[in-house]
Amino acid sequence: MFRRCFAVLLVFIILFSALPVQAFAASGNTKLIALTFDDGPCKDTERLLKALRDRNVKVTFFMLGTRAYNYPEIVKKAYEDGHQIANHSNGHPMLTKLKDEQIKDQISYAENHLSNAVGGPLNCVFRPPYGDVNQRVLDLVGVPAILWSVDSNDWRWTNDALKTTNQIVSRAFDGAIILVHDIHTWSVTGAISAIDKLKAQGYEFVTVSELFRRRGAALYGYNTYRSCKPTGTQLPAISAPAVSMSVSGNTSYINIFADEGTEIRYTLDGSVPNPSSPVYTGPVAFDGSVSVCAVAGYDMNGSRSPLTKKAFTAEPKEAKPVISVKDGHVNISGSGKIHISTDGSDPLSGNTIYSGPFGVAKGTDIKAAVEAHSENIHYSDTAALCYSDNGNIFSDVFTADWFYKYMDYAYSENLLSGVSETEMNPEGTLTRGMIAAILYRMAGRPQISAQDAAETVFPDVYAGKYYETAAKWAKINKIASGYQDGTFKPNNPISRQQLAAMLYNYERNWLHQEPSVPENTVIPYNDALKVENYAVNAVRWAVSAGLLSDYKTAVLDPGKPASRAMTAAMLYHFNH
Ligand code: NI
Repeated sequence: MFRRCFAVLLVFIILFSALPVQAFAASGNTKLIALTFDDGPCKDTERLLKALRDRNVKVTFFMLGTRAYNYPEIVKKAYEDGHQIANHSNGHPMLTKLKDEQIKDQISYAENHLSNAVGGPLNCVFRPPYGDVNQRVLDLVGVPAILWSVDSNDWRWTNDALKTTNQIVSRAFDGAIILVHDIHTWSVTGAISAIDKLKAQGYEFVTVSELFRRRGAALYGYNTYRSCKPTGTQLPAISAPAVSMSVSGNTSYINIFADEGTEIRYTLDGSVPNPSSPVYTGPVAFDGSVSVCAVAGYDMNGSRSPLTKKAFTAEPKEAKPVISVKDGHVNISGSGKIHISTDGSDPLSGNTIYSGPFGVAKGTDIKAAVEAHSENIHYSDTAALCYSDNGNIFSDVFTADWFYKYMDYAYSENLLSGVSETEMNPEGTLTRGMIAAILYRMAGRPQISAQDAAETVFPDVYAGKYYETAAKWAKINKIASGYQDGTFKPNNPISRQQLAAMLYNYERNWLHQEPSVPENTVIPYNDALKVENYAVNAVRWAVSAGLLSDYKTAVLDPGKPASRAMTAAMLYHFNH
């Protein structure tokens, strides 16, 4: 009994002896300082960055746009090291002496140079050169203006690093914003030794944004700030995100966790995330090997966590099974236990195991995946084929797709060919030359007279091309007359309105049936006015004849390319 009490007591002693450290951090006793460097970057900034990295110290750089333009690599390095990048104007003028437009230009030019250097848009606080600011400047710039409470006066102490150090150390206080310039070698040297002295006194160096956030204080646009003394609130620094890997079914995922309320950005190539890197919104599927670099922040510029870098290799998968269909019989080859489905469902969700070739009806989707047969091997990816109503075999057109019937028809009628043995690439586009060839085939490849052929010449339709005769036939029969400059532009993607116009002309000039358009027909898309004059009647006809009946979107985008699926649907409706 005594022994047990003693053990409990010991645990209490250990617990409570650990507590004061916690309490110290939570009670608001951490002394914070924001060191700021103006007028750079320059060559010597690299030496400063290395010293800051060695000391794990974060600062704020008020940079000039013109210098950022000359040293983009240094701006980028400063950002990647977690320092705050801030705007000190483009060319260091006295802003109060400038016209409104000039002030805006000074800020936006600098912001562009800084953003370009870092690789994405930055939110920058700013500091007016010479601290020269008035309400007009604040109103025009619109972001917080950061002044200072301690001036190192470093520019006065030419070649005297010690004086700079002493000025900083003797005037420093909890919550101070300290002004130094990284364009003088003695300033950089003096600031580095001031950092060592103040760290020994218990100061933590933070960016300007972190100084305010850690004290629960906000920075507002149109306002000026000089310091942020203790407020009684002391928030912790942002934790580095936790990165892990998980496996579900046949897929490996990267998972990232971070402090609540922060945004997470990441890369998979090990580079430091910039403002253009993807935002983490949930598990990220990956294959092969990746090197994750993640960061969490309230603002990626100046208010963010340390980086987490971790490498992962996806769990190896079984090889995908190979499905083949011949004369209604399915054959599947794969190494191990093969799960199958013939109703469009995920084969791994059911319990049907492949045991040998089986018969299948037309209009069936066949899916198969190989199950893990040892601990470290995971389910293969799913292989899928569609054995269509017409007996075609597709790997990217399935019975549930809206264009299934149309693709199956267009392929069976030899109007559209596949892009490979089983692929139809439904989202792909078609060129004007291809459409001419399709309509020509639809017309039964009529002969054109030698004289017509000789008289119909497009400078960009070369002899021997598969669409040569089709393009000539289309022009002779007023189906597609080509462009005003005499060209046919056979390699241009066919636009939606051009496709409607060619089918309309085919109906009228080849089939000699006057396309009828009921008078009250309206084009039921929000962008009906974008249809060009030459195609308005054709698009109205396409609407009333049901050619676009599967295309139930808000806009038609008449000038955009028609997809292969859309083309198949229009051809189907045209011929039915
Ligand atoms: Ni300056």
